[in-house]
Amino acid sequence: ILSKGEVVANGTPEELFRKDIFRQYGLREPLYIEALKYSGVNLETDSIYPISKIGTNENITKVKTWCDSIELKEKQFKDNILSVQNLSFAYDESKPILKDVNFSVNRGEILALLGNNGAGKSTLCKVVTGIEKESSGDIIFLGKSIIKNSIKRRGEKIGFVMQNPNHMITQETLLEEVQFGLKIRGVKDFTEKAEKALEICGLHEFRHWPVTSLSYGQKKRLTIAAILALEPEVLILDEPTAGQDYKRYKEFMNFIKEIANKGVGIILITHDMHLALEYANRAIVLCNGTIIANNSPSIILGEKELMEKSNLKETSLSQMAEIMGLDPEMLMNSFINFENQGGMR
Ligand SMILES: Nc1ncnc2c1ncn2[C@@H]1O[C@H](COP(=O)(O)OP(=O)(O)OP(=O)(O)O)[C@@H](O)[C@H]1O
Ligand SMILES: [Mg+2]
Repeated sequence: ILSKGEVVANGTPEELFRKDIFRQYGLREPLYIEALKYSGVNLETDSIYPISKIGTNENITKVKTWCDSIELKEKQFKDNILSVQNLSFAYDESKPILKDVNFSVNRGEILALLGNNGAGKSTLCKVVTGIEKESSGDIIFLGKSIIKNSIKRRGEKIGFVMQNPNHMITQETLLEEVQFGLKIRGVKDFTEKAEKALEICGLHEFRHWPVTSLSYGQKKRLTIAAILALEPEVLILDEPTAGQDYKRYKEFMNFIKEIANKGVGIILITHDMHLALEYANRAIVLCNGTIIANNSPSIILGEKELMEKSNLKETSLSQMAEIMGLDPEMLMNSFINFENQGGMR
């Protein structure tokens, strides 16, 4: 492990896991190691690596006792903001990309949109925001169809942060970039709002810098700041944490949670199953242009066949459940609830 230009740890994965050193340097250990630690398994002496060896009776007893001690809570979201109904689309008529897609998002809810490369996730968001035109179907925002509305009108309510930040940035400096959308909407205190959004996204100190000097991860955050400044009611984020380290990722996701708590509906496209598990209230899976699952992330990520069919990477928690003979949904739910209730603090 390299930190501030110095090698601070050097060993096999097993040695490093046993030292419990990752978090200290802003890195993350596998979820199963975290779960073992939460259960009171002794990282230095118990059997923790490789994962195939963790199914000892002592470990299983500890994990079961831990799971039983956690109060499971599930949030309910009922207030529908956006519904997509029977939406179909093709770039080229002979090759349909979206086929009869149905889903909705509620106020305050974080919805993960999962699917393999090329499944049609980004395309779906482009059709919802009006960048691409559907071949059939409807989109309902707060009870009214917006299918005939222009990109600009949809954009007043639905913020979309595209996958590639270079496709969004048009201005020279960071501050100008965030001010731009506010200005064209006639917002009076555009500088104040832009500075606030930059601050939230950890970019305020660079506000007069040229955009070209930013790293990929910083550019990504800049495009998020520019959309957040517009205060949308639905926020669509295409791979928001790509290129961010764990510390940034956590800060950013906690921030997204706060926005959701204010009543914004969030659609989050991600390849990161940890993120879906820990932060999303619900997940939908897009596979070959159709939605093949719509359920709580702990159920979806625990369904082996579904994960294989849609080519999604299983988390080490579902492997752990299998090795220990536990119900994966129960284990994942315990894990999330434990963390949400303060974890080991
Ligand atoms: N502008 C375009 N013209 C023609 N085909 C396109 C265009 N954009 C995407 N496609 C095709 O549409 C399909 C869906 O692509 P899309 O980018 O929506 O997938 P995705 O689920 O977002 O993938 P990823 O996880 O890699 O971001 C792919 O087969 C892709 O090649
Ligand atoms: Mg995409």
